[in-house]
Amino acid sequence: MSDVHIHKVPKAVADHAHINKEVYEAEYQRSIENTKGFWDEKAREFLTWSKPWDVTVEHDFPKGEVKWFTGGKLNVSVNCLDRHLETRGDQPAIIWESDDPAVDKTYTYKELHAEVCRFANGLKAEGVKKGDRVCIYMPMVAEAAIAMLACARIGAVHLVVFGGFSPDALKDRLLDSEAAVIIVADESVRGGKAVPLKANADQALKSCPSVKSVVVVQRTGGSIDWTDGRDVWYHDLLENASDDCPAEEMDSEDPLFILYTSGSTGKPKGVLHTTGGYLLHAAVSHKYVFDYHDGDVYWCTADVGWVTGHTYIVYGPLANGAQTLMFEGVPTYPDASRFWKVVEKHKVNIFYTAPTAIRALMAKGDDYVKTCDLSSLRVLGSVGEPINPEAWEWYHKVIGGGRCPIVDTWWQTETGGILMTPLPGATDLKAGSAMQPFFGIEFGLVDNEGNEVTGNPAEGILVIKKPWPGMFRTLFGDHQRYIDAYFANYPGMYFPGDGARRDKDGDYWITGRVDDVINVSGHRMGTAEVESALVLHPAVAEAAVIGYPHDIKGQGIYTFVTLMDGVEATDELRQELVNHVRKEIGPIASPDVIQWAPGLPKTRSGKIMRRILRKISENLIDELGDTSTLADPSVVDDLIANRPSQ
Ligand code: WTA
Repeated sequence: MSDVHIHKVPKAVADHAHINKEVYEAEYQRSIENTKGFWDEKAREFLTWSKPWDVTVEHDFPKGEVKWFTGGKLNVSVNCLDRHLETRGDQPAIIWESDDPAVDKTYTYKELHAEVCRFANGLKAEGVKKGDRVCIYMPMVAEAAIAMLACARIGAVHLVVFGGFSPDALKDRLLDSEAAVIIVADESVRGGKAVPLKANADQALKSCPSVKSVVVVQRTGGSIDWTDGRDVWYHDLLENASDDCPAEEMDSEDPLFILYTSGSTGKPKGVLHTTGGYLLHAAVSHKYVFDYHDGDVYWCTADVGWVTGHTYIVYGPLANGAQTLMFEGVPTYPDASRFWKVVEKHKVNIFYTAPTAIRALMAKGDDYVKTCDLSSLRVLGSVGEPINPEAWEWYHKVIGGGRCPIVDTWWQTETGGILMTPLPGATDLKAGSAMQPFFGIEFGLVDNEGNEVTGNPAEGILVIKKPWPGMFRTLFGDHQRYIDAYFANYPGMYFPGDGARRDKDGDYWITGRVDDVINVSGHRMGTAEVESALVLHPAVAEAAVIGYPHDIKGQGIYTFVTLMDGVEATDELRQELVNHVRKEIGPIASPDVIQWAPGLPKTRSGKIMRRILRKISENLIDELGDTSTLADPSVVDDLIANRPSQ
């Protein structure tokens, strides 16, 4: 890797930063050698506890047991709101930028606190108690964050479902979590278009008996159906509620939220995060990774429906008393300068987005950027998938003016917060590398047999050797799956499902998933989910789904579909199948390519050989490898001959 250009930490950045190179090295060493001492100190520095903890960390990975700060008591909403009131009550907490460029709204810490308390009382009036599950199916409006914090205040466990998910996907999550209440908007607005969220929820609720009440936030005033006795307006609940709501004292290990994510097999997994460790990891990583300083305006463009929105729009920033921007719209509306106009308008200092957005905007050309004043920017971030060096260099040069470090942050829904990243003032950068472990994180690389690959350079499957505060504690309702999916493959270690390479300097490069999870526009998806959706269609006998390289999305969805006998393969059917998947899962799962497959390459025991399908999807026909173990090698010739043009 001798040809990799190294971007040195600019002196101005290092001088200003919380953590410079020397501090990182010393503190990282300490965090590994004295994990307890390190996190004890951070837990006292970053959080306010109503009762101190007895034991810092206990774990037994093979049994799936992890606990942090046992015996400690605290409340997340108090940490995110109440304790800031005295020092920064009138400072903006959430800066909301609407889909419409002419509309924005700022909530100060005082205002946010008052509304959270009132809504928390409103939820209590709806019968919500500690431990109940509350679903939040919302657009990117401040009320989504308010709802999360209100749940945290009364000890209810929220599950945010991305507003782009279909009624069926919503239904699955409501059923699995046995949610008591759903909070929804009448409609969401993205790119000038309204999406009927309440109507979607109504449809999902037809078969969700556990949901007793539906709280509706009025976003557009569009017409909606109303079920008396079940539906209640958010604004009516607030009007009748007091803004005095004492916070529930929570145990450090009490659940904070569930967030469904995709695995390589079966239905989505309800990743469960708890209170103390999660919030600590969120706060510490937000401050150090983005080098957040008091008064900075920080903008993470993720949706609250994903973990990035949870940790780095809501919990991390608010725990740190930060000004966090929430954007309702899309990067290309009204045109491709929107992100940069928002940066200029709100004088954003720290900007965190996904490679897919960068690639899409890069493709529109630099003119959209040049008309905007981006001089407020100081730190840039990237998350969700590997960033290709071309996009990295454009981001660095054109958006960051060559002066802003890019933190390429690797983490997962399961990890709660960032685990691998450069730090702005400490780490020299290589385009496309997530570089170094965050404090307290010890990575290893193992081969297929589970033996550790030591030395540099090295390549293998990424594993983590010790627990960290923000890690998830279980999969809701399925602890055995938690153990099997994450701790059984490599005993004594956590298995994230990614491969990685360590270069000669010991810096890490994530090489992508090693399981059947794909990453489409930064959205994580199981190929099995898309396959199950396809085979629900009466015309489909069998389907195999592959992620293939896509210029903008990172990975696109390539599907091989075997039709039922006698069904004709037409373009209309192809479109119908695309619509069908959108209906079953949501638009994010739309297949990019559907190839008709009279047969799929299978082993004699009936297992689909995805390796071969992957090569066909990428048109790497010379690299098909050994096909002699196939039950019927001739199906491969047919698939090669009938590849659709893309
Ligand atoms: C991938 C998103 C390379 C990875 C926070 C991981 C990345 C999955 C990066 C988790 C990165 C995330 N470089 N790959 N900086 N960040 N990934 O749960 O494959 O939606 O396992 O969490 O995204 O996706 P998830």
